[in-house]
Amino acid sequence: MGKGFFISKTVGILGIIAGVGALATIIALSVVYSQEKGKNNNQNEEQTTSKPPTTTPIPSNKPWDKYRLPKNLVPETYNVTLWPRLTPDPTTGLYTFLGSSVVDFECVEDTDLILIHSNKLNYTEFENQLARLMSVSSVEAPAIKSSWLQGVTQYLVLELDGTLKKGHKYRLYTEFIGELADDLGGFYRMYIVVMATTQMQPTDARKSFPCFDEPAMKAYFFITLIHDRGTTALSNGKDIETTEINHDGQDLLKTVFERTEKMSTYLLAFIVSDYDSIGNSIDGVEIRIFARRSAIAAGQGQYALNKTGPILKFFEQYYNATYPLPKSDQIAIPDFNAGAMENWGLITYRETALLYDEAFSSNSNKEKIATIIAHELAHMWFGNLVTLRWWNDLWLNEGFASYVEYLGANNAEPEWNVTDLIVLGDIHRVFAIDALASSHPLSSKEEDIQTPAQISELFDAISYSKGASVLRMLSDFLTEDVFQLGLRAADSSKLELPDTLDNIMNTWVLQMGFPVVTINTGTGSVSQQHFLLDPEAVVTTPSPFNYQWIIPIKWMMTGNMQNPLWLTSKSETSEAMKATQDQWVLANVNMVGYYRVNYDDDNWAKLLDVLQSNHQLIPRINRAQILDDAFNLARAKIISTVQALNTTKYLSNERDYIPWKAALNNLDFFYLMFDRSEVYGPMQDYLVKKVSPLFEYYKQMTDNSSKVPDGHMDQYNQVNAISLACRTGLEECQNLVMTWFQEWMDTDTNRIHPNLRSTVYCNAIAAGGKKEWDFAWSQFIKNDSTAIESDKLRYALSCTKQPWLLNRYLEYTLDPDMIRKQDATATIVDIASNVVGQSLAWDFVRARWSYIFSQYGGGSFSFSNLVNGVTKRFSTEFELQQLKQFKADNSDVGFGSGTLALDQSIERTIANIKWVEENKENVLDWFTTEANAQ
Ligand code: BES
Ligand code: ZN
Repeated sequence: MGKGFFISKTVGILGIIAGVGALATIIALSVVYSQEKGKNNNQNEEQTTSKPPTTTPIPSNKPWDKYRLPKNLVPETYNVTLWPRLTPDPTTGLYTFLGSSVVDFECVEDTDLILIHSNKLNYTEFENQLARLMSVSSVEAPAIKSSWLQGVTQYLVLELDGTLKKGHKYRLYTEFIGELADDLGGFYRMYIVVMATTQMQPTDARKSFPCFDEPAMKAYFFITLIHDRGTTALSNGKDIETTEINHDGQDLLKTVFERTEKMSTYLLAFIVSDYDSIGNSIDGVEIRIFARRSAIAAGQGQYALNKTGPILKFFEQYYNATYPLPKSDQIAIPDFNAGAMENWGLITYRETALLYDEAFSSNSNKEKIATIIAHELAHMWFGNLVTLRWWNDLWLNEGFASYVEYLGANNAEPEWNVTDLIVLGDIHRVFAIDALASSHPLSSKEEDIQTPAQISELFDAISYSKGASVLRMLSDFLTEDVFQLGLRAADSSKLELPDTLDNIMNTWVLQMGFPVVTINTGTGSVSQQHFLLDPEAVVTTPSPFNYQWIIPIKWMMTGNMQNPLWLTSKSETSEAMKATQDQWVLANVNMVGYYRVNYDDDNWAKLLDVLQSNHQLIPRINRAQILDDAFNLARAKIISTVQALNTTKYLSNERDYIPWKAALNNLDFFYLMFDRSEVYGPMQDYLVKKVSPLFEYYKQMTDNSSKVPDGHMDQYNQVNAISLACRTGLEECQNLVMTWFQEWMDTDTNRIHPNLRSTVYCNAIAAGGKKEWDFAWSQFIKNDSTAIESDKLRYALSCTKQPWLLNRYLEYTLDPDMIRKQDATATIVDIASNVVGQSLAWDFVRARWSYIFSQYGGGSFSFSNLVNGVTKRFSTEFELQQLKQFKADNSDVGFGSGTLALDQSIERTIANIKWVEENKENVLDWFTTEANAQ
């Protein structure tokens, strides 16, 4: 089986330097992967000394003041024993874990200093030192002169009396105690204690035991867990044996695990619980799903179990490599910060991301499970087996998994057509951020990423969604087969590329943003320009390519595919793109390219005609693209807002989900900007006209809305139809949801289909008062055993229009007895999305910033989401001043992983102010006219 390895010198010999070019890195991965699988690389031979950080000021030049480890010691094996105690210490009331660790490492460069990561651990002293040092080779180990914990950089520092000698191996022994807090990071416990689990990525392994906590410092781990009788212990490896022991007069169990593969610390996992499991096996790999006993008993693990084997097989074939481990455990965890985590052999999930129950789960919940399993399983190879050298290349890891998750899910559920959804879920999503002057390139410089907060900040939409979009584009122009081959010996000469792959990809990876391609079908001119949401924004980030890209253009003429074209310069002329009077051009077919498209007025008019008369001539993804491009080109003042609004006229004929969803996402912006102004009324009147036919269509299809449609996309669009119809005040819709909700309150029997629950609950609570809210809250508390249902209620509770209920709910978000910590920031964002809740949430966040930051600042996505979420409606000078004031007032506390999001919010607010000023009149007129047109 493959040993762990990562990009190394061998790759360098092939002319590839990790961290420079995207393609270089992809090739690097593939080459290492295909040629070196099974070999045991020496991970150190080529490590260079780290450069001093450029972004983080360092207080001194001492090695322990630098965030990066020196390269002189290399871990080989760890032997770690941990004992998480699930009852509080009677004297302190704290939950703790006890641990001991032996790490064997090799010295590759003489040194008299040992630095090893350690955070929030207290050590047992041996002869006044925090550790014991021994030798495992012929030379003697020097004595420890002094030892201390360096808080800021998170090290255990050992100064030695003599030197460790190059080529020799040493052993470090420590005993320590850590707090088993309910803080969702490192080794932690559930708030309601029944289990302890871990979340190491990116830098919290050091919170569980002292370790060389960098991804390239791969080692073998021997793990032992001590736990209560009646509980089960899990870790990355299979358990070898569990024995009964007596420790300090307590009857306990000791579980010893098989040695792991050579792996990074961030992929470790230790779990103690009384959970139940179901399992099967596929070609000798044991697959198990763990969850709370009641969830397993209710069959909620079955869907995940059924899909895991096939997805695993799919990726084996995709990567052309067998799954590297003998087992694959997946476990649903009640308190979990991210959605899921790819610990090697023991993947952890939020409950809602793994558990499926027909009685409670919507089709969207189900899709999420299939894609998230695919995403995490994809990491088992890409990320775990083959690992990037440092976090600056994270985008490749997460972007790749975020692209192939669609392929894996599509394989598991071929009927759903999920691969199309990348357009909404990733491309449109990240376009909104990547169009800002405060965006950043996919790849970062190694020396710019140093602190844990800087590392956490990389887990953003750029890494995930732009990464996925750009890799999809690459895979499309290379063809999926070539891409899959790992570009190894890919004979790109046959592909007729305009430049080397490296040069093409560098334009997408090394510079931020993306182009808008403008096609003039009169002259045949095709040109590009950096797309900025605010055309007046000042771009201060320099670009090595001057904001030009090498762009693959797939296009059609009057519905027929043409030979693809490459735009390699600022502007070119293509005879082929000249259109006659009755021809029209559509570019970026199926939106495989990461760019927007603009046309001459004539061609725009023709496209709108086709939409009106025969929209099916345009592929459904491109109908969505036309809407999304038009609205965003209008925001950037490249076309008029009226022209963008005109693209929505055909929606009365549209039945497909993807274009509707794209329209709703863009109209959402109008709601955000105008739902407190006089535009609101006419806008509602117009939209109710557009959505009524859709509402009617699904009503017919579903026997008066009493069922849900068969198709996956139809199921989604039925939800769109109902939520927009209710939102625009269609009486029939409102009556429907009120009746359903009332019936539930009266009879205590919930007959609302899971697909429709979120929107039905939300609308009923919005229309109702205290009675409806309290009922939903009581269900929320009661349903705590089914996270899937609780999540829907938690969202819907944010929909009330009563300020006092919203304020009370805001208070609940910071009380873990009411709202789980993992859900706190998402709930605040839900409240801010409500027009009545917006200012309440903003006041709340400002008033509590330092508390929120200290208690909830650790999570990775949640913080940038919070900052973006509570400010997304901002569109006045006053709000902008408040936002700037907020930034100034809290500069001492900081914004952690929300730092970038704050700058993005300021930029977005500035753009919104200008947009509203310039467009309000037009928009009001347009809606008024169109609402009255027959
Ligand atoms: N490696 C991440 C989990 C993670 C995120 C750890 C941030 C630490 C910080 C995992 O592979 C992941 O990407 N999870 C996603 C799910 C996915 C389907 C996008 C998540 O948690 O949302
Ligand atoms: Zn991931």
